[in-house]
Amino acid sequence: MSIKDIITVPDETLKKKSDSIEKVGLNEKKLIKDLFETMYHYNGIGLAAVQVGVLKRILVIDVSSKDEKKEPLTFINPIIKKVSNKTSIHEEGCLSIPDTFIEIERPKICEVEYIDINGNMKNLKCDGLLSTCLQHEINHLDGKLIIDHLSKLKRDLIIKKISKSKKNPDRIIV
Ligand code: NI
Repeated sequence: MSIKDIITVPDETLKKKSDSIEKVGLNEKKLIKDLFETMYHYNGIGLAAVQVGVLKRILVIDVSSKDEKKEPLTFINPIIKKVSNKTSIHEEGCLSIPDTFIEIERPKICEVEYIDINGNMKNLKCDGLLSTCLQHEINHLDGKLIIDHLSKLKRDLIIKKISKSKKNPDRIIV
């Protein structure tokens, strides 16, 4: 297992659509372990394979709180089958967009069909944080980021700010 580097905006890879998985083989299982290790290391609650530069439709999620037992969930080739009309708003961040939080309105409940780590087809009805997180991660598989919910002007400002801070490796936040 290893902790992978997470790619950040404006890396063009993040805009690409990920490919479906034909079979859950050893490579995929190793990738899933790395995704979990990377996600936990960076204190994320979800991570898509594209965020470590692998264009496969795989994502991992764990929305359990810190003092609870871990609840790792793996979604392979996830498809949203149904969404509720009722929406909810969360302030969302993203490991690929440092220091940026955006309020996003999404369907409150979603039903997803996916393949689990053992290669079995599953269905899951998700609500609350899990539903929001899953929709955010599935967006990643289609090359869509939280900043795409903003106007071009706001989006460009955020990307400019992040690109600038990358050029100043000595910068500290206190
Ligand atoms: Ni994200």
